[in-house]
Amino acid sequence: MIHLNDRPANADADPADPTAPVGVGPHPRPWPDDPRLDPQLLAEGDRRNVLDRYRYWRLEEIVADLDTHRHPLHVAIQNWEHDFNIGSIVRTANAFNVAGVHIVGRRRWNRRGAMVTDRYLHVHHHPDVASLVEWAARAGVRLVGVDNLPGSVPLETFELPRDCCLVFGSEGPGLTEEMVGACNGLVAITQYGSTRSLNAGAAAAIAMYHWSVRWASPAGGIARPAAAAR
Ligand SMILES: C[S@@+](CC[C@H](N)C(=O)[O-])C[C@H]1O[C@@H](n2cnc3c(N)ncnc32)[C@H](O)[C@@H]1O
Repeated sequence: MIHLNDRPANADADPADPTAPVGVGPHPRPWPDDPRLDPQLLAEGDRRNVLDRYRYWRLEEIVADLDTHRHPLHVAIQNWEHDFNIGSIVRTANAFNVAGVHIVGRRRWNRRGAMVTDRYLHVHHHPDVASLVEWAARAGVRLVGVDNLPGSVPLETFELPRDCCLVFGSEGPGLTEEMVGACNGLVAITQYGSTRSLNAGAAAAIAMYHWSVRWASPAGGIARPAAAAR
């Protein structure tokens, strides 16, 4: 019996060469008998940016495995300007294994920073704010706007709801008034320097991390509320 773990990640990489290929090369024969594995990846090597435990897995098998432990966190992004930040938000959303990503506005979005991580996520499109609101009501998810606008509450002092959709604005205009009005709450990340704002990708990473500190357990599941102190 051959175990995938017998073959270390980056087995082919020369640590002294920054241009060396990432990932793993072709799997030595005999191949493991595991239907989750992709014969093409086994034959040609797996250069994808995936965890070692997913090496050589078929894409749909990785998605199915992620589906078994997705967090009840969603993220929504207003897409007015083909903002390069959207790809970065999507990549972070994959890292936090969110339940869904919602693109609001234009259907086409800037995928550059996503590094194909969108393939491992459930990405939904909403043509307008009303459509996002309708989905959230049906799903029992609270919309929390994230922007440094008048009336926003410091994120550091705010307990995000467990079943929550964090809503981010575009670079430039930020969240629209209509979106702010549709949200159940509005939070801002406190800043200390002179710039007006963070870029949306950085803000989204901080906000997702804040949610996960409260609700995600280190084992990957969902933390239960702590028992009341006696
Ligand atoms: C560049 S900002 C947009 C505009 C911002 N409201 C302003 O006054 O300049 C783009 C998006 O990044 C996020 N963002 C940036 N800085 C933030 C902060 N300090 N707190 C919360 N969200 C922030 C928000 O989602 C915002 O809509």
